[in-house]
Amino acid sequence: MAASTVNIGIAAAVILSALLFSPVSQRLTTLGITRGSIKNIHGVDGLRTMPGTNMCEDLHLESTTNQLFAACQQDAEQRARWFPPTGLFADHTATGGGAIVRIDPVSMTAKTLTLKGFNQPMVTHGIDILNDPTESDLLWIYVVSHLPNPDRWDVKPRRTDLPPERAHIEIFTHRLGTDEAQHIRSVRHPDITMPNDIVAVSPSSFYVTNDHVHHEGLIRAWEDAGTQSISPTPNTILIEVTDLKTKSPTAGIKVRTALRVHNNNGLGRGSPHHPSEIIVLDATGGILTRTTRDPKSQNLHIIERIPLASTLDNPSYYLEPFATSTSNASGYLLPGLPHAYKMMADLPFNDRAIPSLVWHVRSKDNRPVDKAGPGKGNVWEKRLVFQDDGMGLRSASGAVLVGIDPERNGGRKQGWLFVTGFGSFGMVAVKIDLE
Ligand SMILES: *[C@@H]1O[C@H](CO)[C@@H](O)[C@H](O)[C@H]1NC(C)=O
Repeated sequence: MAASTVNIGIAAAVILSALLFSPVSQRLTTLGITRGSIKNIHGVDGLRTMPGTNMCEDLHLESTTNQLFAACQQDAEQRARWFPPTGLFADHTATGGGAIVRIDPVSMTAKTLTLKGFNQPMVTHGIDILNDPTESDLLWIYVVSHLPNPDRWDVKPRRTDLPPERAHIEIFTHRLGTDEAQHIRSVRHPDITMPNDIVAVSPSSFYVTNDHVHHEGLIRAWEDAGTQSISPTPNTILIEVTDLKTKSPTAGIKVRTALRVHNNNGLGRGSPHHPSEIIVLDATGGILTRTTRDPKSQNLHIIERIPLASTLDNPSYYLEPFATSTSNASGYLLPGLPHAYKMMADLPFNDRAIPSLVWHVRSKDNRPVDKAGPGKGNVWEKRLVFQDDGMGLRSASGAVLVGIDPERNGGRKQGWLFVTGFGSFGMVAVKIDLE
């Protein structure tokens, strides 16, 4: 679809919502329409960029080995022509370069894992990792992949009435310390429509967000500009795989809806002290939604919504190992885009800057966080800990904080913040103050 169509769509949708509805000023803020130029916030001594980490959308910390895992797209030129998550369907053959990359946060070097038993294209997006409950050196890796829909593109004449993509999930296992991952199976189902991010609760069951209802056109722009009460609302689904051995992508899968949240996008865990907490982000609405997993039904129930002043993407939680009763940096790390409206209005995103930011949301005055949410004493401090004009880090969609032991740091409480973007030419790290 032509960029100008999207542009007009967004403009029309924003103006319409401005005329009709009150949450407008909030949406003007989250999409960055009312925000001026972007000032760089690069921690205490500037940006470090890691080679071999192109276009990595999502990032997770494996805590037993202290290694980061990311889903990347090493062919930047192809990503600029095919990236369904941003409504970019310019060239359905541009599906090369999908990779799982491990990053050592101490040496700041990256290693691309060799994928065994896997020889199909992969267009990466959200991922999750899960330590096997019984085998301590086994890691499960779940990857969203946005492949083109063959029923639309591989027929003559092309079926433009059908969805442009047919996305699915890839499951891999990885022995910690090795340089390879073994493909286990692909998971495809009609209810996995526009998958975004994943949280696994066991090796064979995981939640997935579908971030939109509509792939293309004005109606998609209206989903972005609207709110839950006025625009189509996608779902978060629970997928249960009953057969991990089958070669058929569609066999042995059960899927059902667990939650509906406007533009539900990034998905993550909350504090390990609240193991049933799952966080779901309304991306264009800029809302961190804390939910709790019902042990019986497995549905997700909303316990609290925390609004932020930008779009939001894949979240992570930092439980501070060096916390004291008076100083505690535990909280959520939320990447996002300060000028999202510009990116949405101008696809493909070949050679432009895409400004990026990261919020750190923690309990104000170090109060204990109640899992029951508003009215229960939770007061949140929202710190803007990273911001870039888009030249140093082009877009931000994943952020993980790795603490530095104050005893080895002259008594200062700081951490390395790793930030990555679906459109970035390398993940960055900045050292930030955490007092
Ligand atoms: C720090 O805060 C988190 C979140 O409220 C809490 O779970 C943790 O127990 C706190 N740590 C200390 C040492 O107080």
